[in-house]
Order: sequence, then structure tokens, then C-alpha cells
Amino acid sequence: MAKLIYLMRHLRESGTDRKLQQLILELSEASKYIAHAIKTGEMGYAGTSNLYGEYQLTLDVLADKIIKERLDHTGLVSYMISEEMNGVTSSHKNSMGPYSVCYDPLDGSSLIDANLSIGTIISVMPGKQILQPGKNQVAALYFLYGPRAALIYTVGNGTHLFVLNDAYEYILQEEYITLNGFGNTYAPGGLKQKWTSKHAMFIHYLEDNGYKLRYSGAFAADINHLIAKKGGVFTYPALKDEESGKLRLLFELFPMAFIIEQAGGAASNGTMRILDIEPSDFSQRSPIYIGSKKEVRIAGKYLKKI
Ligand code: AHG
Ligand code: MN
Ligand code: MN
Repeated sequence: MAKLIYLMRHLRESGTDRKLQQLILELSEASKYIAHAIKTGEMGYAGTSNLYGEYQLTLDVLADKIIKERLDHTGLVSYMISEEMNGVTSSHKNSMGPYSVCYDPLDGSSLIDANLSIGTIISVMPGKQILQPGKNQVAALYFLYGPRAALIYTVGNGTHLFVLNDAYEYILQEEYITLNGFGNTYAPGGLKQKWTSKHAMFIHYLEDNGYKLRYSGAFAADINHLIAKKGGVFTYPALKDEESGKLRLLFELFPMAFIIEQAGGAASNGTMRILDIEPSDFSQRSPIYIGSKKEVRIAGKYLKKI
């Protein structure tokens, strides 16, 4: 039987910086509490948990709190910001920490009642600065809470997939994931009647060429589909009434672009590489075309057409 490789060992043997190892391990611990809360519905009711106060929290607020407290506890984070927070929070334990972290505590939260897969997405930036281009990231990871919980991470040395076993340990399932040059599925976000004609032409191209529709409503799950099937394309385009689309650079697009590029794929806003965008706002959004290289390149051709 093949030897099990635990997350800690993988991080160590891949030469990851010690502090970054610790940060990722702490986040992996946080994810276990989130996975448990999703599975059991134990969401901090008074009497069932004294850790999170005396009122029931919604799952996304609970996930936010779990991650924030873990990050605080590491002493490794100077600033953090999440989709649930109103502003940047400096980690009170150690605002000298070497990293800044941006995260989406629960991605796809509108799917909770439908019992579909949802996730947590995290971006780790160097230093005390949140607004940096995505190419500066030192790590990116996401957790997927599906029939099995999974962790996908990169520290700039490939993209690696772990699954949570019944002893609540993340075990390596696949390292150095490599997407094929092209795939056969597409995930088209945004209301069709709000698409621009250029984007609609790109989607027609995919349909005319036999691409299968795969769209779940959770970005993390749709990205995981690309990873599992080794290709395809996800889009959330510019819309007629919202030219920046819906998804957020800091919490969603930067980390996923890093993960997909490290797996040999590509991510663009239609005209430029996502990781090269210089953000000026914490809640900045961007259109996204992400997945295997061929489809992202072809999207670019359609979006440039006059
Ligand atoms: P969140 O739950 O963090 O707000 O993110 C939801 C996002 C993303 O996960 C998904 O791809 C997209 O919204 C779905 O949007 P539509 O419902 O417009 O398809
Ligand atoms: Mn989200
Ligand atoms: Mn969210």
C-alpha cells in the first residue's frame, strides 16, 4: 500500500518557508471546524458552544470568525481582510507578522440550503500590504466542502490536492496537478441577457464546438471541477450593467488565478492577465476567464473583436 503523505510533511519537503508552513497548517485546522459545522449544522447555538458567543451565527459569519481567530493566534499575520468584514483588520496579536491575508470564508453561501458544494478561498500576500498585484502572492489555497472535504494549495511550486480522511487529516491525493492545454467543459456565469455581444460570441463558439455545460454557483466548486477534469473554462464576464462582473479580485480571483496558473492553466480578464492587475480597492471586481490555456486565449480573441 502506498504511504500516506500528510499536509505537514508535504509542506516541509517542498521547501516551503517555515512560517508559511505554519500559516497553512493553521488554516487547514480552521477548515476542519468549518467542514464540521457545515456537516452537522452546529453553528454556535447558546449551550452547544461557548466559543462563538450566545447567539446563532450564520455559516458564513461563523466561518469568518473561525478563520480570523486562527489567523490572529498564529502571530504571523499583520493585516487581514475578508469578504465578510467591513474593513481591514490588523491582527491584534502581532501586527508585525510577515504576511497579509485576504479570504472569502464561505464561497457559494447561497447554495447552503441546496446542500451543494461550497468552499473557502484564501490569498496570502507578503508584508503589511493588502493592495498588491496577485503575482506577489506567496501562497493561495482553497478548501472545498463537498461529499469529501479537500484542500488545494500552491506556494508557487505547483498545485497540490489533499483530501480529508475520516481521522480529519489532510492526505495528499495528487501533487503537481497539470491541466491539459484544452478541455471540454464551460461554466458561464452572469445572466445571459446581460452578456455583451463579444462574450456571447465566445460562449457560442464553445457551444458550437461541443463543450459541455458545468456551472454550480460556487466558484470554488467550479474551479475544482477544472482541476479534477484537467481542463475547461470558467467565466464570469463583464455585464451590460456591471462592467467589472461579480467576482472579487482579492478574495476570489487572485488566489484562484495563482492556483490555476501553477497547474499550467491561465486566467485573464479578457484582455490582461489577472495576476498583473494592480488593485486600488479592497472590494474591486473583475471579469474572469480562467481554465486551460486554449480557451482563455480564444476568449481573448473574441473580446478584442470590434
Ligand atoms: P459568495 O457566496 O462568496 O458571495 O460567492 C458567490 C459567487 C461565486 O461563488 C459564484 O461563482 C458566483 O457568485 C455565482 O453567481 P451567480 O449566482 O450570479 O451565478
Ligand atoms: Mn465567493
Ligand atoms: Mn463568501
